[in-house]
Amino acid sequence: MYSETKRNFKIKKDAVILAIESSCDETAAAVVKGGRDILSSEIISSASEHVRFGGVVPEIASRAHTSAISLVVEKAIKSADLTLKDIDAVAVTYGSGLLGALLVGVSYAKTLAYCLSVPLIAVSHIRGHLAAGYTVDKELTPPFIGLLASGGHTAIIRVTSFDGYEILGGTLDDAVGEAFDKVARIIGLAYPGGPNVERLAKEGKNVIPLPKMLKGEGGYNFSYSGLKTAVINYVHKKEQAKEEYSRADVAASFQSAALDILAEKAIEACGEYSLETLTVGGGVAANGYLREKLIRACRERGIKLVLPPKPLCTDNAAMIGAEGYIQYLKGNFADMDLNAEARIKEVGERS
Ligand SMILES: Nc1ncnc2c1ncn2[C@@H]1O[C@H](COP(=O)(O)OP(=O)(O)OP(=O)(O)O)[C@@H](O)[C@H]1O
Ligand SMILES: [Mg+2]
Repeated sequence: MYSETKRNFKIKKDAVILAIESSCDETAAAVVKGGRDILSSEIISSASEHVRFGGVVPEIASRAHTSAISLVVEKAIKSADLTLKDIDAVAVTYGSGLLGALLVGVSYAKTLAYCLSVPLIAVSHIRGHLAAGYTVDKELTPPFIGLLASGGHTAIIRVTSFDGYEILGGTLDDAVGEAFDKVARIIGLAYPGGPNVERLAKEGKNVIPLPKMLKGEGGYNFSYSGLKTAVINYVHKKEQAKEEYSRADVAASFQSAALDILAEKAIEACGEYSLETLTVGGGVAANGYLREKLIRACRERGIKLVLPPKPLCTDNAAMIGAEGYIQYLKGNFADMDLNAEARIKEVGERS
């Protein structure tokens, strides 16, 4: 029945999209108009429930999504000063992420789209991170270079059209956010590691020699496992020899090694492809050191930097609404048999 209705959906340029994101430990809902205007963006996070386990526990995250989803959607509709009748489409993250967590958002979105008789749009979480820039700079139009730096992804992407991507390079092993989380654990910092490493790094200096990874080689690829091992070895050696060492210096040295290369390669890509705009997305793009580095480097080279505010870098639903709108304009609507997928192969690719 919904498939029949689906054929008759009219596409509106200023469509109001309700977006839902539940791929990890954030239950998020947002209302986005015309793909660019964020009318509301609400998040209920279960992060504090995972702290004592040192990372996200999928079962706890799923249960938290179940109890938060109705509330977060209600809050998003209310703060947008709308009612459900004003919603033209429902967009939802269907992958990649924790399967049980994704299923909560997907099931809720399906029910809502069905009851409201509006299009259901399946959105890739990673495409969402890349689309955050469209809500920040209303004029942002491809082509541009996208730097993706998150908990599960690290890549430099040439965005050729609203719906077309070329991955210029990515990580060969760990993602940069994952490396932050692992290093945090090594130096005794609590989950979530990234922000805690950044905080401690402010008290330290970049004085510990660490591998420069694929600096000046490997094209646009990255490798973080060697850096992580070097930090482990440094800390273990100091501890075995019962020598004093500064955790803050470890944090500062790691942070520089991990992030300098991201900024350098992203800028290099802008030069090689003669593109004057760089956008960033993903939780690591909330890091102040990286943000300052990018601001400085882009200013020096005359590159326009589209830098989403921190809450739009970490997981949120507004970015899902922005990417959802791109799919909406294409009429790329999902059916009621939409399923959650733990792993979508690549950005720009539906498996
Ligand atoms: N200020 C920060 N400095 C460094 N890293 C950070 C900072 N804030 C968040 N992170 C890192 O960002 C990651 C979370 O980002 P995000 O929520 O986008 O990842 P994810 O959704 O788990 O993974 P993905 O988006 O790749 O599927 C974590 O690894 C976290 O440590
Ligand atoms: Mg993410």
